[in-house]
This record gives sequence, structure tokens and C-alpha cells, in this order.
Amino acid sequence: MITFDEILPALDEVLPSHVGVVSRLERLVVNRDLNGRIRLIAPEAAMQDIALADGLRALAETLAERLKPHAFAPDQMLLYEPDMEEALAGAHVFPVESMEGVLFADRLASEGGWADIAAVSSGAPRVVFFSIKGGVGRSTALAVSAWSLAQAGKRVMVLDLDLKSPGLSSGLLPPARRPAYGITDWLVEDLVDNGDALIADMAATSELAHDGEIYVIPAHGSRPGDYISKLGRVWMPKVRRGKRQSWSQRLGRLLDRLETDYRPDVILIDSRSGIDEVASSCVTDLGAALVLLFAIDGEQTWSGYHILFQYWRQAGVAREIRERLQWVGAMLPETNTEDYFIRLRERSWDLFSDAIYDWVPAGETAGGLWNFDDGDETAPHYPWSIKWHRSFAALASLHDRLAKIDPYEAELFYGRLLRGLDDAVSRGEEE
Ligand SMILES: Nc1ncnc2c1ncn2[C@@H]1O[C@H](COP(=O)(O)OP(=O)(O)O)[C@@H](O)[C@H]1O
Ligand SMILES: [Mg+2]
Repeated sequence: MITFDEILPALDEVLPSHVGVVSRLERLVVNRDLNGRIRLIAPEAAMQDIALADGLRALAETLAERLKPHAFAPDQMLLYEPDMEEALAGAHVFPVESMEGVLFADRLASEGGWADIAAVSSGAPRVVFFSIKGGVGRSTALAVSAWSLAQAGKRVMVLDLDLKSPGLSSGLLPPARRPAYGITDWLVEDLVDNGDALIADMAATSELAHDGEIYVIPAHGSRPGDYISKLGRVWMPKVRRGKRQSWSQRLGRLLDRLETDYRPDVILIDSRSGIDEVASSCVTDLGAALVLLFAIDGEQTWSGYHILFQYWRQAGVAREIRERLQWVGAMLPETNTEDYFIRLRERSWDLFSDAIYDWVPAGETAGGLWNFDDGDETAPHYPWSIKWHRSFAALASLHDRLAKIDPYEAELFYGRLLRGLDDAVSRGEEE
């Protein structure tokens, strides 16, 4: 008997002893279906070669036994496929490390995968505010960031994608200014080709902006309406011009449309927290130029980020996302701040070194490799710190607080984040 987590190690154990067979195939796919059952898919051409087909059958039989109950019965364990690309369609695909030429095709019931990293979008930089835990001051930081960028004359677009726990827009808009519709309404109307009718009524400008502009796109409109019924449909895919679009692709389409209409200099996205489908869409699918990883020191934070980083490493996509990541030390305590910061930095360095940074062999310099020292302030693991301050704690109204914020305070508590965002926007303008 094995359990789910033992599938990959067991494959690594069995495959090398069948190298003679596997190496003769141009490709072998190990498919893991929705129930977590494994079967092998080999190119149809291999059937013609009797010795090869015998070898494959022996491998399939060994695996059927070794992977039980996470495998098909021996006689159903091996499939031949004329088109190997077809065999990979719709799956999360990554190479099996122990054997060249073998691909693992993983099929998940939920559509949000963390392993498909979209290229950085070509328009205004998209900045995603993500955290493993909720309540770490992420939405507050986003609102302060929007305010600060607008102070500097920028056109800022803010999206509340924390659909299951919306709130950011109320921090930027008083009730009377809220638009009629929100992202949830659009995603539901889009299913019946009615999205366009809402576009003009789903953004409002915040009067907190003085020189620039803050366009707020809320999760729902001024009246949430039957929010739970709408939320239950947001995740629906749609067939459009004969092609299936996942909900996340539909969201991408909305974002492109809003960008065309409002021409922002920067787009700030409040993601959902945790290893969640909406969060994965925000972090990996929307073409973010910068992904801010909010963290407070605590086991839940470390284990959550560990899971995520290891998944990226295993899926072979850490390289695609790593240059966009930035650690944010959230709500640094007022006392023993320095000790706290160092602990946070050391632990984030451990995480990044384990999964994200290139491994530098002893005695070699890091030439050509992507690696940073623990104390390198420009490194993605080096926390951009945000200070805890009582004037932001347990706010009854974030909007009232922001109406009174001054640049000195913003700099004092949020300075590193604000400078980082200025840099990201300037880089976006240069490109
Ligand atoms: N810098 C800060 N210092 C003190 N309290 C804060 C700070 N930022 C946010 N808070 C408070 O922490 C709570 C959670 O903030 P919020 O921004 O909603 O977090 P999240 O979006 O991560 O759930 C709120 O009560 C808020 O007023
Ligand atoms: Mg929030």
C-alpha cells in the first residue's frame, strides 16, 4: 500500500531499473487522473516493436503492483496514444527527475493551478498583493500604496479580487461613491455574453487621490445583491468562439478590457490569501510583474510558503516566477523590531535558498547563477518592512484613516514598499 505522497518517490525507484525500455521511447507519459490513479501512456508506434511492447508491459505490471492503490489494474495500466501532445492536453505537466524523456501529467479537479506561469503582461505593471494568512495588513498596505502612487500623479487601478472576503474597495470609496457593479457581476454576466453592458458601471474614482487618479474596481457593486449565488458561478468556464476559456482566462479578458478603457500607469491587485484558486489566478495567470508575498513570523506562514515554493520547484517553474517575487515583512512589532526583522529575513532566506535560488556548489562563485546573500538588500527574500502602528490597528473605517494620512506617516510605516512600487512603475514606463 502506498499513499498519494509516495507516488513520485515510488516512480523514481522503479523507473531507473527499466531504463533500457524507457530510453528507446521518444516519450513516456505518467498520467495521474482526477482520483490520483496512475497509468502509463506510450506512443502508438512502440506497439509495432514486440520487444519494446513486452518491456513496456513488464514496466506497467511492476508499477501497477508497486503503486497500489494509486494505479490501474495491470491490464489497464498501459495506454497507447497516436498523438502524445493530445495525451498531455489539459494536464499540469512536469518532467520526472529520475528519468529523462518521462513526463508526469497531473490532472486536478480544481482549475486553478499554481504551475502555469503567464508571461509578464505588456501593459501597465500588474502588482499582486498576496499572503498565506489573512489579517496581515495586506489590503491596508494596498490602499496606502494606491494613495501614495496617486499622490505622485499616477493613474492607479485597484482590483479587489479577494472575492470571498471583499473589503478593499470600502477602504478607498465611501458608500455613496461605490459603483453599481463589481468583478463578480461581470464574471456572471459574461457567461451570458452580457459583460460589456456592465463595464462603464464597475469602476469609481476615489476622492483620496489628489494629483493622479485611483480607479477602484470592487468585488461587488454598491448593493451586493445575491452575492453568494453569483459567487457560486464565478468559477464557470465558458466556450467562446469555439474555444473553452477557464474562469481565470475570463478574468484576464476583463482586466485587459479595463486596462484599455482606463489606461492606468499601474494595476494593484488584492488577491485572496492562502493556497486558493483565486489566489493562484492572481499570482500566476494575470501576468503580474511583481508579486508581493506578505508574511508575518509564524508557523502557518512558513509552512504555507514552503508548500508553494516546493511546488514551483518540483513543477520546474521556479525560474519563470522568481524574478517577480518580493517578500514583505508585514506588521513589524514596535518592540524588538530588529530581532524580529532578522529572524524573518533568515527564515525567508532559508525558504528561497531551498526552492527558488540556484544552488551554488561549495567553492564556486555565483557567476551566471541566480543566488543572493542572506543580507543582500536587493534580494527578493529581503523583506520590505511595514511597521505595525496603533493608528492603523483595528480600524473601524480604513477610508477615514486614509483621508487623514500624510506623506510623512506613509513613509515612516510603509516607506520601503512605496519606494519599491515607485521603482516597479518607473521600470514599466521605461519599457
Ligand atoms: N500597519 C498596521 N499596523 C497596525 N494595524 C494594522 C496595520 N495594517 C493593518 N492593520 C489592521 O490589521 C487588520 C487587518 O488588516 P487588513 O489590511 O484587512 O489585512 P488583510 O487584508 O491582510 O486581511 C485591520 O484591523 C487593520 O486595521
Ligand atoms: Mg484583505
